[in-house]
Amino acid sequence: MLLRHRANRVLFSWLAICALSAAQSSDHPKLAEELYKNIEVLKGQPASSVQPTMESITRQIGVDCKYCHVDKNWASEDNKMKQDSRMMFRMTSFIDHEIFEDKPRVTCWTCHRGRAKTEHSPVPKEKPPQLIMAEKFITLTPDEEKLPAEQVFKNIQILNGVPAGKLPFIMSFFARSLGVSCDFCHEVPFSSDAKAPKHMARIMLGKLVRGTAKNFYNGETPVECWTCHRGHNKPPVGTGEEAASEEPTL
Ligand code: HEC
Ligand code: HEC
Ligand code: HEC
Ligand code: HEC
Repeated sequence: MLLRHRANRVLFSWLAICALSAAQSSDHPKLAEELYKNIEVLKGQPASSVQPTMESITRQIGVDCKYCHVDKNWASEDNKMKQDSRMMFRMTSFIDHEIFEDKPRVTCWTCHRGRAKTEHSPVPKEKPPQLIMAEKFITLTPDEEKLPAEQVFKNIQILNGVPAGKLPFIMSFFARSLGVSCDFCHEVPFSSDAKAPKHMARIMLGKLVRGTAKNFYNGETPVECWTCHRGHNKPPVGTGEEAASEEPTL
């Protein structure tokens, strides 16, 4: 294992030297697709960035190179994980493009946190206090519960068509995922749009969660508020390779 690791390191440095000398031999830096064989998602990136990108994503999702690559043949497409992870590159860029003006605010690490499998929202053993709270504030008759939310509430822009009776659960899910209470997004009355986080929550639900569902998962998305937030109003910045102190504290 150690030997292989060393051998890989030698190969990486060699790749890096190739990329460097290739870059110096022309007036523009060599692009990934000019040096490597099967480049799709990294098209247009400098060739010299391929190796650092690979090393970084490997750490961000907590695997080794072999998780996605056939041994000793980086260009091979025979590992399905390599092909599947292209979709992940596209989804990450999609989110950063749609929501964060192309800043790399969301990385593999934002969702993966150093593990190949992402985390789902924990299923509470008892009715969570946020749901008890939501049911206290949102009281509906059985008939109202069945109506579309926009017919029962005053200011529904994203949850159109969702049965009004689901609102207490959805609101408590927002609150739990972000580790906040209702007043983080709301002031009285609930239909008011005065608070910025309410606006942001609409963007997150409408553009981010539904956008990934539509563009990458044919409707049913495993990406939920919890995937990134995990009980914090702001997911930590970065790739997990920076100081742990950037994790926001509540
Ligand atoms: C999560 C999956 C994943 C992991 C882990 C991973 N790679 Fe990759 N690798 C890819 C994908 C996807 C591509 C193709 C990129 C593209 O389409 O532009 C690629 C392409 C490459 C290429 C270019 C091959 C060519 O000629 O087309 C090299 C070299 C490479 N990876 C090296 C590495 C090394 C070294 C590691 C470990 C440090 C590693 N990769 C870890 C997914 C991965
Ligand atoms: C918006 C959240 C999100 C981001 C960002 C994200 N992923 Fe994922 N990833 C997921 C989810 C959810 C799954 C599990 C469901 C699935 O396979 O689609 C997953 C699955 C995977 C898997 C398959 C794991 C397995 O063993 O089945 C790989 C590999 C992977 N992601 C790599 C990446 C890489 C590399 C990046 C960054 C370029 C990335 N992901 C960015 C959410 C994300
Ligand atoms: C993370 C932000 C967030 C949190 C936390 C949150 N909400 Fe909401 N709430 C929203 C958004 C966004 C909407 C509007 C949805 C839409 O436009 O479709 C909304 C709409 C509502 C409405 C409908 C108001 C109307 O008349 O249009 C009620 C009622 C409501 N929330 C109650 C609650 C309660 C009770 C809690 C606490 C358990 C809560 N919300 C927690 C973001 C939040
Ligand atoms: C792909 C990761 C991801 C997912 C999934 C996600 N968010 Fe976010 N969210 C972020 C990031 C990144 C920020 C920006 C934080 C910052 O300002 O630095 C953010 C910010 C927010 C904010 C503003 C927080 C503040 O303190 O101002 C709200 C509210 C919010 N998200 C709600 C939601 C809700 C509700 C969902 C589910 C419908 C959701 N988010 C899903 C990544 C995500």
